[in-house]
Amino acid sequence: MKVQQIAIFASGSGSNAVQLIAYFKNHPHIQIQLVLSNKKDAPVLEKAENLGVKTHYFDNDSFENGLQIVAFLKENAIDWVVLAGFLRKISSPFLDAFPNKIINIHPSLLPDFGGKGMYGKHVHAAVIAQKVPKSGITIHLVNEVFDEGEHLAQFSLDISPNETPEGLALRIQELEHTHFAPIIEQTLLQHA
Ligand code: GRF
Repeated sequence: MKVQQIAIFASGSGSNAVQLIAYFKNHPHIQIQLVLSNKKDAPVLEKAENLGVKTHYFDNDSFENGLQIVAFLKENAIDWVVLAGFLRKISSPFLDAFPNKIINIHPSLLPDFGGKGMYGKHVHAAVIAQKVPKSGITIHLVNEVFDEGEHLAQFSLDISPNETPEGLALRIQELEHTHFAPIIEQTLLQHA
């Protein structure tokens, strides 16, 4: 089987990206080939470089246009795009070039607490304000509608009575670090 090459898009701290790089290091069939960001100073870029992964910065205009970045991904023989803390909506050049091969992680049980503006602490604050009994994570394929692609997996946890948004964020992050890489692995090995 041909080695499946992944490009990670991230614009934040990159804890999930770091986790993925560690998990797939020395993997026989899957490789993290590139980390890309639309933020020049995103900590994820330095972390990836320190782990020996090539990085690339692009500005928001070239992201919206898409074609140049898609060409760059193709030049690097990228098969899959993984969004790990990337907030912009994926435009059609990417969806056309990587049909059903773009994977996102969202820190809630979609369709609840998804869509525009629902990211990071906004999600966890809304979950607690609405007093729902459970939250969790959704790993899903990306389509043209924000947070609405086919679900690959969901994992949940119970909200405790004194839960704070900060505490919940940490527990959700733990779930992400446990499950994101194995679900990507399973998906890639099934669809490669
Ligand atoms: C994660 O919570 C993920 O669900 C969301 O963005 C966050 C990224 O966190 N899409 P990190 O930068 O990987 O720490």
